[in-house]
Amino acid sequence: MSRRVLTGVRTTGQMHLGHFVGALKQWVDVQSWNTYDCYFLLADVQALTTHAENPSLLPVAVKTIILDWLSVGLDPFRADVHFVLQSAIFERFELSGLLAMIPTWREVRNNPTVKEELKKNANPSAGFMLYAVDQAADIYMVSPVPHESGDELLVPVGSDQVPHLELARHIARDFNKKYQRNLFTPCQALVGDVGRLPGIYGDEKMGKSADNAIFLTDTKETVKDKVNQIRVPSRAANEPGETEKNILFQYHRAFNSDEDQVADLTERYQKGQVGDREVRERLMAAINRFLEPIQERRAHFANVNVREILEEGTRATRPAAKLVIEQVRDAMHLGYPT
Ligand code: TRP
Repeated sequence: MSRRVLTGVRTTGQMHLGHFVGALKQWVDVQSWNTYDCYFLLADVQALTTHAENPSLLPVAVKTIILDWLSVGLDPFRADVHFVLQSAIFERFELSGLLAMIPTWREVRNNPTVKEELKKNANPSAGFMLYAVDQAADIYMVSPVPHESGDELLVPVGSDQVPHLELARHIARDFNKKYQRNLFTPCQALVGDVGRLPGIYGDEKMGKSADNAIFLTDTKETVKDKVNQIRVPSRAANEPGETEKNILFQYHRAFNSDEDQVADLTERYQKGQVGDREVRERLMAAINRFLEPIQERRAHFANVNVREILEEGTRATRPAAKLVIEQVRDAMHLGYPT
């Protein structure tokens, strides 16, 4: 029986609080269960779907992300935890090409992320159109094969990734059915409770390109500046306020470890007994408390050997991917005639 976790992120830049809530928090959790082999993928190939103009930035982003991951407590020095550079697993490309034969063009075209992107850019790269299929190859390169009962393949992700995982489940089932083998273990999404964090201006989710993010590396001063920019509904003095959609409170709920304080602020806000200033200042302090151990760990790892970490990840992943590819080729009747 194999229990595996694979998840990842595109290597497009440093990580922020939105990544923490939507992804990293769950990853650290899963790692702490000690019951799954964990593969954390640096998706440098997938980054090219949108960042092909300046690929020379990718190696820098890879190092940054590795430090981000170490700083939140992911631990590639454990035997069951691996940081995997997507482009280093050659078998993954082959799997991606073969899995592309399973879904129809319409299924690919109807993926919500693809639809969104097509609204903004009518003519994306052909690679982008296959984004979700390629992501299925990321996941299934570590599928326990052949599938046996009790095998698990978990994918902790933010809610935006769920449609991709639906397609990936579909691909596993269709493949197994079409080739009459119980080969792939359909993956399962694991979506955290918060999932999506709004950016500091509240209109969009937190993201690097939207320029609305608080990064894991932000200094105390920067955090102060950014929290000062958070937009809140205007209220007259002593006017009761709503906390549900107020970003200050959303952040308090996500990052303030002092639950009594959050409960107290919430109650007073709802009764009109606290001003925005206090809510804001307590949030600055809370976020800085939250970031402090993360930044200490990052400093500790500043000179870590990134190459060694990635080489270990490659060594751990390629044999698994080879096994998958052998069985896929066999099922699809590919190979030299004998
Ligand atoms: N698409 C994910 C993102 O944008 C990154 C990713 C690539 C991924 N391959 C994956 C996530 C496999 C989960 C599983 O962040």
